[in-house]
Amino acid sequence: MKRSETTPLTVLEASEKDAPAILALADVHRDELGAIIQHRQWLLQQVERGEIFVAKSGEGQLIGFVVFSHQSLAEHENTTVYYLCTSEDYRGQGAGKLLMEAVASDARIRGKKTIDLKCPAHAPANYFYKSIGYKLLQSETDREGNRLNFWTLRL
Ligand SMILES: CC(C)(COP(=O)(O)OP(=O)(O)OC[C@H]1O[C@@H](n2cnc3c(N)ncnc32)[C@H](O)[C@@H]1OP(=O)(O)O)[C@@H](O)C(=O)NCCC(=O)NCCS
Repeated sequence: MKRSETTPLTVLEASEKDAPAILALADVHRDELGAIIQHRQWLLQQVERGEIFVAKSGEGQLIGFVVFSHQSLAEHENTTVYYLCTSEDYRGQGAGKLLMEAVASDARIRGKKTIDLKCPAHAPANYFYKSIGYKLLQSETDREGNRLNFWTLRL
C-alpha cells in the first residue's frame, strides 16, 4: 500500500541501531539490490564510518538507505554510491532524491569532485539517476554477462 506523508521525511547518518532495519529493507528488495545482504560485516563497518544515510518517515520508520564510500585515499576525487533503496510504499515521494542529495553535500564538504555509481542497464533506477541530474558515462558488460550503466554527477 502506498503511504503518503504529512510530516516531512528526514535523512540522517545511520546508527548501529538502524542496522537491523537496513538489512530487513535490503532483504525485501534483494532482487533489485543483489548481494548486499551477504555483506553484513561490511555494512556494519560502513555504519561506523558514517557512510550510510537513512531516510525516516514522520513516524520514525526507516524507509530508505544509501551506502557509499568517500574513498579515503587523498588522491581519490570521487565518492562511490554502492547501494540505494527506498521502501516500495514510499517511492515517488522524494526519499531517493533526499538520500542522494545528502551524499552530494557530504562529498562536497570533503572536496570530492564527482559521485560515481553503476546500475544494471535494465533497472528502472536509471530513469531516477537521469532525473536527479546524473550523466551516463558509458555502458559495459561485466564477466557474468550483465549490462551495467556507469553514471556520474559533477559536484
Ligand atoms: C531508484 C529508487 C531509489 C528511487 O527512489 P524514490 O524514493 O522513488 O525516488 P524519488 O521519489 O526521490 O524520485 C526522484 C525523481 O526520480 C524520478 N523517478 C524515480 N523512480 C523512477 C522510475 N522508476 N522511473 C522514472 N522516474 C523515476 C521521480 O519521478 C522523481 O522525479 P521528479 O523529481 O521530477 O518528480 C527506488 O525506486 C528504489 O529503491 N528502487 C529499487 C532499488 C534500486 O534499483 N536501486 C538502485 C540500484 S542501481
